[in-house]
Amino acid sequence: MTMTKFEHGGQLEKVAKQYNIPAHAWLDLSTGISPFSYPIPNIPIQFWQQLPIAQDGLIAAAKQYYQANFCLPCSGSQQIIELIPSLWLNQMRSLSHDISASDLTVYLPSVGYKEHQGAWQLAGFQLKFYDQNLPNELMPNSVVVVINPNNPSGQLRKANDLTQLQANVNQQQGLLIVDEAFMDVIQPSESIVSQLTENTLVLRSFGKFFGLAGIRIGFICTSEKWHNLINQVTGPWRVNGPALYIAEQALKDKLWHQTQISKLTQQQQALSQLLTEFGFGRQISCPLFIRVETSQAKHLYHALCRLAVYVRLTDEQDALRFGIPNHEQLAQLKKALVQLSKDKSLGDLA
Ligand SMILES: Cc1ncc(COP(=O)(O)O)c(C=O)c1O
Repeated sequence: MTMTKFEHGGQLEKVAKQYNIPAHAWLDLSTGISPFSYPIPNIPIQFWQQLPIAQDGLIAAAKQYYQANFCLPCSGSQQIIELIPSLWLNQMRSLSHDISASDLTVYLPSVGYKEHQGAWQLAGFQLKFYDQNLPNELMPNSVVVVINPNNPSGQLRKANDLTQLQANVNQQQGLLIVDEAFMDVIQPSESIVSQLTENTLVLRSFGKFFGLAGIRIGFICTSEKWHNLINQVTGPWRVNGPALYIAEQALKDKLWHQTQISKLTQQQQALSQLLTEFGFGRQISCPLFIRVETSQAKHLYHALCRLAVYVRLTDEQDALRFGIPNHEQLAQLKKALVQLSKDKSLGDLA
């Protein structure tokens, strides 16, 4: 069996071909990656030459930034998403030899980054989906995946609800995975990292907030047990040297974090205002994107594409997700929305 290929934002070349508009002419707001990137420092030659080992300085910076006791760099949180099902199955098998993945239940958000679903499905686990409310009655040894804040729904769970869920999962001797890919702009108190128990894993994406998704680095915050296990199975050269170097500088740069948060917040508010002006009333804001719910989502997606504006149409086709634009991109979007509002066939945009 192979992993299902899910739709994601960031497929500009493909979309540009579909609409026969050259890629350079597009406004791409299809991802939740910050348009403001951490400036790439001069990378000392040894980070290119030598085999990459995460130095103490990076680990200390990551622990401080994420407020974690144990923190491991990985090649983007996606690497860990793909790895966890086999680790959990092995762990269960060490307790009971004849257990198989289909005996174990995984609770997933019905709306959310689909790669979680793909990884558990591929490994043969039984999937159950939850909506607004976190799952309550859990099967023994089950796994619960929470994306907080959720992409693309934008829903932010209260820290208190998550610690309750954590206690419930622990009671069932299960595993809790909290994907905090979009947490950086939100108050640190909303993160569950500082309250982890043994079987809770928190995934932190580096690429989104720091605007450097291409360097492929992320972090996993865990208990000592999971830290050692993941460290063992992922081998010595998980992340390339230049990415390790850049991440260390970026995680330590508190002044840049502050500036980045205020720039993103400002641009997010400006985007929200612009969308409201053009009649997109039902918005859910997450610091790195805005979700706009509209019965016309599919129609609007195509209309925007025809104007060379690429946003993300949700898998459910009930909403559009706009990434945060910089100043020029916001002006470009405004022009397109003026054009769009002249299209009478679209009627009411909400
Ligand atoms: C919710 C969520 N988690 C994890 C990821 C994976 O990101 P990365 O591997 O760059 O850390 C994404 C990517 O879009 C995401 O949206």
